[in-house]
Amino acid sequence: MKWTIGILAGVLLAATSCTSALSEAEEKAAMEKGASLAGASFKALSAQLQHAMKEGGPAHAVDFCSLNALSIVDSLSEAHGAQIRRTSDRIRAPHDRPDAEETQYLHAMLEEWKAGATAADLSARAVVHGDSVAYYQPIFINSPACLKCHGTAGENLDASAVAVINERYPDDQATGYAMGDLRGMWSIRWAR
Ligand code: HEC
Repeated sequence: MKWTIGILAGVLLAATSCTSALSEAEEKAAMEKGASLAGASFKALSAQLQHAMKEGGPAHAVDFCSLNALSIVDSLSEAHGAQIRRTSDRIRAPHDRPDAEETQYLHAMLEEWKAGATAADLSARAVVHGDSVAYYQPIFINSPACLKCHGTAGENLDASAVAVINERYPDDQATGYAMGDLRGMWSIRWAR
């Protein structure tokens, strides 16, 4: 039964996603480009986040991120000629809501992670759609600092940050995480 469902799901995926295979060299280049753009974006965001944390603590940093995170990532997109996004199955910012294909890949990553895959096992993936390439890379809660804004109230979620989070993100779903949790993924797309 499980097999039948698995095969059916595979066939459905292949039929609906309209992907064609990348050549080995193209796949390698896509993985390298995706990893380098995700790395540069992470660096830019975390440098600004750390600066804001130092300047005014977690509440100020939430405020700063709510005003600037999207434009920091958007200006990187512009500079690199790619569409760079972060997304999650439990979003904080409404603009990070996953589209249909992102949802598909997020769920696949979550399944693997729930089945015991660690950050080291769970690799990024590159998908081609005719004339564009999509690169999806998992994002993990990889530092206790993340928990100040994504952890659990009464435990490690920063009390001063909570008020600003609730004010800026009334539909926030991005708390309750623990170290090592799969938080979401980078979604990076560019013309082939
Ligand atoms: C100072 C508080 C703060 C800290 C610390 C923090 N975040 Fe966030 N995070 C936010 C805010 C605010 C947003 C929404 C930003 C926006 O409006 O675009 C966010 C958004 C995200 C998103 C995008 C998906 C979504 O839910 O909108 C990911 C992924 C993410 N954070 C991961 C992390 C990780 C991993 C760490 C630790 C390395 C971390 N965050 C540390 C406040 C924080």
